[in-house]
Amino acid sequence: KILIVDFGSQVTQLIARRVREEGVYCEIVPFTKAEAAFREQKPKGVILSGGPESVTVEASPRAPQLVFESGVPVFGICYGQQTMAAQLGGAVEGGHHAEFGRAEVEILADCPLFNGVWHKGERYPVWMSHGDRVTKLPDGFTTVAISKNAPFAAVADAARNYYAVQFHPEVAHTPHGALLIRNFVRDIAGCSGDWTMGAYREEAIAKIREQVGSEKVICGLSGGVDSAVAAVLIHEAIGDQLTCVFVDHGLLRLGEAEQVVALFRDHYNIPLVHVEASGMFLSALEGVSDPEVKRKTIGRLFIDVFEAESKKIGGAAFLAQGTLYPDVIESVSFTGGPSVTIKSHHNVGGLPERMNMKLVEPLRELFKDEVRVLGKELGLPDAFVGRHPFPGPGLAIRCPGTITTEKLEALRKADAIYLDEIRQAGLYDTIWQAFAVILPVKTVGVMGDGRTYDHVCALRAVTSVDGMTADFYPFDMAFLGRVATRIINEVKGINRVTYDITSKPPGTIEWE
Ligand code: XMP
Repeated sequence: KILIVDFGSQVTQLIARRVREEGVYCEIVPFTKAEAAFREQKPKGVILSGGPESVTVEASPRAPQLVFESGVPVFGICYGQQTMAAQLGGAVEGGHHAEFGRAEVEILADCPLFNGVWHKGERYPVWMSHGDRVTKLPDGFTTVAISKNAPFAAVADAARNYYAVQFHPEVAHTPHGALLIRNFVRDIAGCSGDWTMGAYREEAIAKIREQVGSEKVICGLSGGVDSAVAAVLIHEAIGDQLTCVFVDHGLLRLGEAEQVVALFRDHYNIPLVHVEASGMFLSALEGVSDPEVKRKTIGRLFIDVFEAESKKIGGAAFLAQGTLYPDVIESVSFTGGPSVTIKSHHNVGGLPERMNMKLVEPLRELFKDEVRVLGKELGLPDAFVGRHPFPGPGLAIRCPGTITTEKLEALRKADAIYLDEIRQAGLYDTIWQAFAVILPVKTVGVMGDGRTYDHVCALRAVTSVDGMTADFYPFDMAFLGRVATRIINEVKGINRVTYDITSKPPGTIEWE
């Protein structure tokens, strides 16, 4: 096992993901808890993450000195490199030579970290994001790669198995980064690479049991894959201590409620409470057009419903949610820069503080594609596991401006037609997520001999791996034409269809 010490980088989870992709189990611990975790877990290697702080500042975070005394291999990344240098007797200087984004490293010497990947004398693209830099190496270290602004872009003390890089090998913009991480965990730390999602399942179940004890848990189902996987996993862990609550907030897609209820009650035999709450949600959302207010309103009402259901079962101590890692990092403020909240995804950001249930979030460390693998592992039907993601706030955030039942009805129909055509064309599984949006804009049209003045429907379809970045799907025009014709002919209230060709970034996948 590998221990990842987190210094607060926005991309720490990507390190974990890369390690897991190599079939090696790892855990992330905040630096404040690293020493205890290190003692307890006895990892075969330690990776020190990046982070927003500066080691030149007094009382900035450090790795446990114990890690360096223990003799296990250590790999420091960015801040991890700097604190490693500082702790082992080198020096770090505040940044006059910041490097952000694309850079190039030149390989000066062979090194076990580069084996079979990078070759002496060659140059390779990497992704940098740092203000400080190491200026003096600790004894025993040599420089194995340089970049324009980082004379110690990669350093190594191969005798002690210490490696450290200034760039970020975990991000996709460092093309061979995953292979460097592989070299560290497999060859240098000697992990065998036989860890699987099956093992994750066992560990997650053990953790849920430990966290929950004999208390009761309520799990909100949204109709999406994540909450379904979380529910099945938790049910496997604690059986009937779990009650699933499916809230129909009036913002679901066509036929969605029936599908979810059937899956849980009939397929899994998991107790499910189906709460019809559309009146309550839609009246609270009346006149609301701000996307964040929509999310927070919905989040608040969800909690009201969960608390009411919790009372009915004699008090649940925990609320379970299918929160994924991208939800976590996009909702909390990004570290390492001015704080920005992109969207407060309801299952993290919008939780009212008064909520008196603790959270169980067994998927918090996973990316979407990993959740799908876990879902399959848990025996969820392929068709369900392959479902496109659907946001908790549902159609509310696909209806920019104020929400009305007429707009929702038109949107539901348009969305169903669009997805039906996508399935018929055999494209459902190639596309990561597709949906219709109904715009608050009305345009003039002519139908038969009459004038129409109706809403615009925008279609969105993206390819993605994890929802963090995405590109629009390049449909052929004949397909789009077919969908547009059907929507305009079959859906009252829509007389124009457009296709969204924005990637993420700079756009987001949803429109709100
Ligand atoms: P964005 O729009 O942020 O979406 O690019 C990324 C993924 O997250 C989903 N999403 C949400 N999921 N609550 C959720 O549970 C939310 O408030 C929310 N907003 C976006 C979105 O559908 C996409 O899959």
